[in-house]
Amino acid sequence: MIWLVGNKGMLGRELELLLKEKSIDFVGTDKEVSITDLNILYEFSDSITKKNKKIRWIINCAAYTMVDKAEDETSLCYDINVFGPQNLAKLACDLDASLIHISTDYVFSGDTDSPYSEENPKAPCCVYGSSKSEGEDLVLSLCKNSLIIRTAWLYGRYGHNFVYTMLKLMNQKDHLNVVDDQVGSPTWTKDLANVIITIISKAEIHYGIYHYTNEGQCSWFEFSKEIYRLGVTYGIIKNQCEIRPIKTSEYKTKAKRPLYSVLSKEKIKRVYRIDIPHWKLSLQKFLEEIKRDGEVL
Ligand SMILES: NC(=O)c1ccc[n+]([C@@H]2O[C@H](COP(=O)([O-])OP(=O)(O)OC[C@H]3O[C@@H](n4cnc5c(N)ncnc54)[C@H](OP(=O)(O)O)[C@@H]3O)[C@@H](O)[C@H]2O)c1
Repeated sequence: MIWLVGNKGMLGRELELLLKEKSIDFVGTDKEVSITDLNILYEFSDSITKKNKKIRWIINCAAYTMVDKAEDETSLCYDINVFGPQNLAKLACDLDASLIHISTDYVFSGDTDSPYSEENPKAPCCVYGSSKSEGEDLVLSLCKNSLIIRTAWLYGRYGHNFVYTMLKLMNQKDHLNVVDDQVGSPTWTKDLANVIITIISKAEIHYGIYHYTNEGQCSWFEFSKEIYRLGVTYGIIKNQCEIRPIKTSEYKTKAKRPLYSVLSKEKIKRVYRIDIPHWKLSLQKFLEEIKRDGEVL
């Protein structure tokens, strides 16, 4: 069976729905079984083993994800993003299970202009990025059957994210300033969740680090322009809103962010033979779902 860790987060909830839809045997936990406490993790895994169930995969979607707050809550961020994955890696090794751990484009500095491959040296520029980078290193050193998936710019139905924030603001304001000099790849949680299921369903697993985002790249400004265009098309945005490009230097945040964090997906496409949708297509499908379900923003 699968142990889905962090099942109440944005990606975790998406994965949980998919596991249910596909009738895959799993158990989900979140903060009530804290990944920072190895004893609690062992107690939980013992309770599964006592039911004569074998945990074959641990999928870790739990994390500390508040990038700016992490600059002040460094210790809490490290507990969750470094020692949490360390604990899960030890446990996976003991249980002879495989581990999928989700990481981020923020492990890179962003001082480049061509997509990062899995082999590129890491140089995080903020506390969150450093914590995720150290978490990765521990997972790889403690659990040989581990697979790290770095992703970026996530949005989906089950959490606060850029798309929802933009849709709400675009309905309220007559103009918005959006950063135009940070470039990345928006990624729908549903696409990532599907890839994770594809990987664990394979007969042969190739462990290691992989990059996964939707195809294509854009700045936050370009992303917001497309959100606006589609939002108007689907009648989700009923307001006229002008979107203006600004520089990162005009939008102060506590944590520094990589300016260019596009990830190369060549490895995951080659090894796991997957097709990756373009970010514009996935965004369109996401807004179609919102429209279809009459979601109130
Ligand atoms: N969101 C993005 O744009 C993005 C981009 C790149 C990579 N990622 C990575 O993708 C993964 C999923 O991100 P997400 O956006 O789905 O995160 P999320 O929505 O913040 O979900 C993380 C979940 O982990 C829970 N959690 C926190 N501390 C825990 C603990 N000690 N034990 C167990 N669970 C705990 C959180 O609970 P609380 O909410 O109650 O704290 C939350 O339910 C993370 O590894 C993240 O670093 C995200």
